[in-house]
Amino acid sequence: MDKLIVEGGYPLSGTIAISGSKNASLPILAASILTDEPVRISRVPDVSDTNYMLQILSQLGASVERSSGTVRVASPDGISSSASYDQVRKMRASICLLGPLMARMHRCTLPLPGGCLIGDRPVDLHLRGIQALGARVRVKGGNMLIEAPNGLVGTTVDMRGDSGPTVLGTDNLMMAAVLARGTTVIESAAREPEVVDLANFLNAMGARVEGAGSRTITVHGVERLHGCDYTVIPDRIEAGTFMVAAALISKGVTLTRVCREHMKAITDLLLECGHTVEFTEDGETVFVKPGEHPKSGKILTNPYPGYPTDMQAQMTALFAVTPGISVVKDTIFPQRFMHCAELKRMGANIKVDNGTAIITGVEGLSGAPVMASDLRASAALVLAALAAEGTTEISRLYHIDRGYEMLDEKLTALGAHVKRIRELDTGSENSAAH
Ligand code: EPZ
Repeated sequence: MDKLIVEGGYPLSGTIAISGSKNASLPILAASILTDEPVRISRVPDVSDTNYMLQILSQLGASVERSSGTVRVASPDGISSSASYDQVRKMRASICLLGPLMARMHRCTLPLPGGCLIGDRPVDLHLRGIQALGARVRVKGGNMLIEAPNGLVGTTVDMRGDSGPTVLGTDNLMMAAVLARGTTVIESAAREPEVVDLANFLNAMGARVEGAGSRTITVHGVERLHGCDYTVIPDRIEAGTFMVAAALISKGVTLTRVCREHMKAITDLLLECGHTVEFTEDGETVFVKPGEHPKSGKILTNPYPGYPTDMQAQMTALFAVTPGISVVKDTIFPQRFMHCAELKRMGANIKVDNGTAIITGVEGLSGAPVMASDLRASAALVLAALAAEGTTEISRLYHIDRGYEMLDEKLTALGAHVKRIRELDTGSENSAAH
């Protein structure tokens, strides 16, 4: 398992390009099996999660080719409708194969995803959606056996759960509905930009999806879909992560290939905390540097367009060295505070209680050996290490490699002193990812 050695205290500067969105790529790759014609998808980041998805697609029988950032997928007739536990356990997000498999095959066998480090990952809303379209669900041996012998029929479904909308649940219902008979109305739909990107991809294939980005999505079923060429949106969480790094320790960093409208909550918080964030007119380039007098802040995570749960760990690293008391409450994944214990090993003053972290800013952090735990918690440790005094060794780097493309190369390009130590894998498969 690789490690990252970070020599802290070197201010970042320079320019890097942000990669395509991991969380847009995953459902779009899954949706590629909705047609038997080839699709070409550009700016798919080369990270473990997208590579796991490509492995699963090829194990289902699709032909998959990747050349740099562009992926070509062709799913001729005869693809399998069953993904095995061994394939799915590596990545919770493979649940987004449910919709496409049901739309195309009217049946599928998928393992029930277990929990993961950021909390339990229920799928009750995914099943609510597919059952509303007429599917029957049985659970046997840890697998969901789902079938719709008479096909799928459009209807109106309210997809709201106790924690609000579901991103992949909305995606699954949208993908199941595009080939269903009649019209499906999705109420309480997730509004994330990645959901909109999937809707745009489906429409590029000939689907009729309306209202993506609002709380109500309408899908008019069509007979078949055709191939297309598509480019995924920029990764707003990668961009947000680098914006926080620039606010933490830099002489000013420029990020290109970003999308300002997707990052309003992230931008607003950095501005409220006194940092400099300046976008170009077209909103595709942003310059960020630390404020003269940084201020503490408050985060209450919410579904888009609220403050993203995927950014609260990174911001906690900044709050750790910001004077004053900051508060982070995660309403979506209340257990998502694995990074706090590790940050405390570096000298942070954080109290976690009942889904809320109280952070009292300290003068500075000190480097220490720390352990990555989940994707965004690991990113928070890297940010803290950049600002810490001395050397930090971050183990279990595979967590970061799931969602950040060439992170060490990008940090080095910005002047950080980081080095990846490749270690022979001890054979312990990556822990369940989310
Ligand atoms: C997506 O996960 C993202 N992953 C997550 O990013 C992100 O944290 C999450 O949305 C929330 O924004 C991908 O897009 C691949 P949800 P998803 O269904 O769709 C509850 C990262 O770091 N829920 O929107 O799986 C659930 O427990 C990852 O890139 C149910 O109760 O999340 C949570 O509290 C981590 N029943 C809330 O809804 C269900 O059937 C939102 O989850 C489904 C979800």
